[in-house]
Amino acid sequence: MASYKVMCVLTLLTPAVVCGQAPLNTRLLGESSEVTDGEWPWMASLQKDGRHVCGGTLVDQDSVLSSADCVSSSPTASDWTVVLGRLKQNGSNPFEVTLNVTDITLSNQTVSHEAVLRLETPTLSNYIQPICVDDGRNFSVGSTCWAAGWSSGAGGEEQVLQEIQTSVVDCEDTWSDSVCTEAFPVEQGFSGGPLMCHQDGSWFQAGVLTAENKLTTGPQGKFFSCFGDLSSTLSIVAARQKS
Ligand SMILES: *[C@@H]1O[C@H](CO)[C@@H](O)[C@H](O)[C@H]1NC(C)=O
Ligand SMILES: *[C@@H]1O[C@H](CO)[C@@H](O)[C@H](O)[C@H]1NC(C)=O
Ligand SMILES: *[C@@H]1O[C@H](CO)[C@@H](O)[C@H](O)[C@H]1NC(C)=O
Ligand SMILES: *[C@@H]1O[C@H](CO)[C@@H](O)[C@H](O)[C@H]1NC(C)=O
Repeated sequence: MASYKVMCVLTLLTPAVVCGQAPLNTRLLGESSEVTDGEWPWMASLQKDGRHVCGGTLVDQDSVLSSADCVSSSPTASDWTVVLGRLKQNGSNPFEVTLNVTDITLSNQTVSHEAVLRLETPTLSNYIQPICVDDGRNFSVGSTCWAAGWSSGAGGEEQVLQEIQTSVVDCEDTWSDSVCTEAFPVEQGFSGGPLMCHQDGSWFQAGVLTAENKLTTGPQGKFFSCFGDLSSTLSIVAARQKS
């Protein structure tokens, strides 16, 4: 009887977190060209001393994915805070929450270098939702994907979140297990943010932006942006869920 009760409590405390849902996103309908509150509800702003340093994404109830380059110079959790539900870096954000970082794990894959930051658990809302992480899906050539981030000098005085629309191109066999897109520049403040693609009714993160991977030259001399496999990141998040 006692163990039955414990089971019930555990079930209530750990509901399955649905990922990749953005109830307020109108991108697929092509409705506006401006990012609005709740458009990309997993977008995170990694902050040091109250200033935006890099982007990131909520990938689980309490884990944020970013680029290792963003945090490697200062990998101490207490140096960082993460803001979720933010639209403007210099304006009011009624739906945001600022959270302390409790732990940072760096992955050191050859192609991609990710960081997973563990947070105090936020309350999810239409403005704060986790994105699904690509688990080896194929995004067909020509499909539309988006990148998003904050960059000083973009988004006007209020520094509104910016998005870049791009489309998937063939990686030309140079990068297996990768997703490649038409080349687009990644500003420093965009580092750590996502490349996002919609598939089967959910949004998937297909890559982490870094200032380095902005232009890759393929064997036929074409420029494209390539994003490494995120499976090592998934294993970090999964290992934590068990601990
Ligand atoms: C977050 O960290 C700051 C500085 O260490 C601390 O003052 C504050 O109480 C923390 N907030 C929470 C909710 O723990
Ligand atoms: C980096 O990867 C190597 C080889 O997989 C591993 O031995 C090493 O412990 C890793 N270092 C860090 C900091 O994760
Ligand atoms: C992805 O596409 C490749 C080549 O078209 C195929 O070999 C592979 O099985 C596909 N993977 C998945 C997960 O569908
Ligand atoms: C922030 O907004 C204020 C007005 O609300 C403006 O005066 C200021 O220039 C802005 N700062 C930046 C860095 O754009």
